[in-house]
Amino acid sequence: MTPTTVLDRGNHVLVVGGSSGFGLGVARAVLDRQSRVTIVGRDPARLASARSALAEHACRPDSVSSIVADAHHDEDVARVFDTTGAIDHVVSLVGTPMGGGFLGADLGVIRASVESKFFANLLIARRAAKAIGCGSMTFTAGTGGRPQGAAGSWIGNIAVEAMVEGLAVEAAPFIRVNAVAPTWTPTTLWREVPEVEVRATQASFADRIPLGRTAHEHEVVDAFLFCMTNGFVTGQTIAVDGGVMLTD
Ligand SMILES: NC(=O)c1ccc[n+]([C@@H]2O[C@H](COP(=O)([O-])OP(=O)(O)OC[C@H]3O[C@@H](n4cnc5c(N)ncnc54)[C@H](OP(=O)(O)O)[C@@H]3O)[C@@H](O)[C@H]2O)c1
Repeated sequence: MTPTTVLDRGNHVLVVGGSSGFGLGVARAVLDRQSRVTIVGRDPARLASARSALAEHACRPDSVSSIVADAHHDEDVARVFDTTGAIDHVVSLVGTPMGGGFLGADLGVIRASVESKFFANLLIARRAAKAIGCGSMTFTAGTGGRPQGAAGSWIGNIAVEAMVEGLAVEAAPFIRVNAVAPTWTPTTLWREVPEVEVRATQASFADRIPLGRTAHEHEVVDAFLFCMTNGFVTGQTIAVDGGVMLTD
């Protein structure tokens, strides 16, 4: 019989990008299920503050670890997996978005977005495939943009969708592989953007989204949890976008 690939009590979950936003929510939800979590991020201060918040939240403070690393660098990714050793589930929130079209945007910016959304995650997947005995990987794509308005993000998101389909077959039956695709959501991703601009973007998305609002952070976190806890879902990209792509 094939062993279980679902999140279980005592499992060790690596959240690459767990120091804020969706990833921090995922880390908290993992602890609620009596599992252990290691969070990764680039900014040491942000990571330390997330770690102590999670340790306060956890039943056992020693169920939280953190590693400062930049997933855009191969040697950092290697170090993360060398440090954790065997792992049960990996969640990656890595993926730098961008604005601008194929003609107008700086080529370097388009390239950096594809590198971040696709190649960094491919590297994580390759390491994760060796570190996970039985479990899952969940990546992050995105919806709601248009190719002419976010060229590199669009390509990167499609690449993630293709990657999870291929990996799901290559890594079966012991590892399931999925992605979650949020649309614009008010998270700390927009911390550098003036509040008034964030509110304006939120209002314009709420107008476009059939459900008439943007997501609550926990609704996106729930989708990551679903990918870890449903043992018969693999190769899927789950849109958590209120139906934004169903209208013009
Ligand atoms: N919020 C939205 O509107 C939205 C919509 C669609 C898709 N998404 C995608 O969802 C994902 C998470 O977004 P979020 O809203 O939760 O943003 P966030 O609050 O900025 O969280 C991103 C997390 O990833 C870490 N991170 C980013 N790049 C990293 C790297 N190269 N290496 C290691 N850690 C890295 C960040 O910490 P450090 O910065 O300290 O490294 C942080 O912990 C992103 O891939 C984003 O593109 C977001």
